[in-house]
Amino acid sequence: MTTLTTQVAIIGGGPSGLLLSQLLNKSGVETVILERSTRDHVLSRIRAGILEWGTVELLRAAGVDARMDREGIPHDGCYLTDDELMVHIDFKELTGKQVMVYGQTEVTADLYNAQDAMGTTVLHGVSDVSIHDLDQSKSRVEFTHEGERKVLECLYVAGCDGFHGVSRKTIPEETRREFERVYPFGWLGILSETPPVNDELIYSNSKHGFALASMRNENLVRYYVQVPLSDKVEDWSDQRFWDEFSRRIPSEAANRLITGPSIEKSIAPLRSFVSEPLRWGNLFLVGDSAHIVPPTGAKGLNLAASDVFYLHSALTEAVTGKGTGGIDDYSSKALARIWKAMRFSWQMTTMLHRFDGEDAFAEQMRKATLDHLAHSETARRDLAENYIGLPF
Ligand code: PHB
Repeated sequence: MTTLTTQVAIIGGGPSGLLLSQLLNKSGVETVILERSTRDHVLSRIRAGILEWGTVELLRAAGVDARMDREGIPHDGCYLTDDELMVHIDFKELTGKQVMVYGQTEVTADLYNAQDAMGTTVLHGVSDVSIHDLDQSKSRVEFTHEGERKVLECLYVAGCDGFHGVSRKTIPEETRREFERVYPFGWLGILSETPPVNDELIYSNSKHGFALASMRNENLVRYYVQVPLSDKVEDWSDQRFWDEFSRRIPSEAANRLITGPSIEKSIAPLRSFVSEPLRWGNLFLVGDSAHIVPPTGAKGLNLAASDVFYLHSALTEAVTGKGTGGIDDYSSKALARIWKAMRFSWQMTTMLHRFDGEDAFAEQMRKATLDHLAHSETARRDLAENYIGLPF
């Protein structure tokens, strides 16, 4: 069997694995990344597009800020609306901070380029991964690559392989505690090469259901509508999407909406999920392998980034003989922040969506929440503080 050796084995070549690898390499720690799909496939996945400022700063520390600074668009606020009220949340005024509009796909592409420049080994098309000896001073990851069974020996393993990956399932079931909330709807999203309908994002809770107007640049939009889980992409022609989207956003925005062909269309279910703990022996879970948020607060990538922030310094200390305090605290430190983002994205989801079969009370609660936001700067500041991201 071919044997490779590294200090930190990283399972998963999405943004969390790449960012962790990049930061570890910059601190002199060696990594090897194992990824199931091809690079093209990873880079074809369309995900959210809002970076908290802490994520922006972490990308800067990783040396992947050049294109983000050229092409990203800092946003000072966003709008929350229903059929009666339009509330502006001014992040800049309320918190002094902004967010950055820059697609996760672009972040991933920048990280691949940075890792190429570092000379890091990234193996693609890796299958049948299994993780062993997590209680020994040397751990092993076994896998199939180019038709051959191989082993990667390492000191630590970072599980950055997403919700369906092998890492979380390697932790014995009796050790894991899982928490889940599945929402009874999904988001249908489209990308279209048209100018944004508004200069800031609009989260709209209309009587026809939720819609979100987001963007990637001055001629590329990302728009979403809430759909039943039974809907298929084929059920949604572009025309049907535009008709539905325009009746769900405020009429003044709908009047200036420019439509065009979609260049991507997909449906994503909404789920809140946490698996505790994030550490088992020498294995550490990062990002979606341990937690999923609904996209309503744009927290997915940003939460993975805060996990990476805690873990890269903890692993650097451990590998360079400066102590194991960081890795011992990783799970509890990361989870404290994860649960607050869970709460925020659950609250945003509940406040902005219609649930099938809900009663009139639920609708009044949504209305009262928006009305309170409209009239209380304290309420707006609370939302803004969570949206721009709690400190690491
Ligand atoms: C996006 O641009 O894809 C996006 C923005 C904000 C969200 C979710 C998705 O809350």
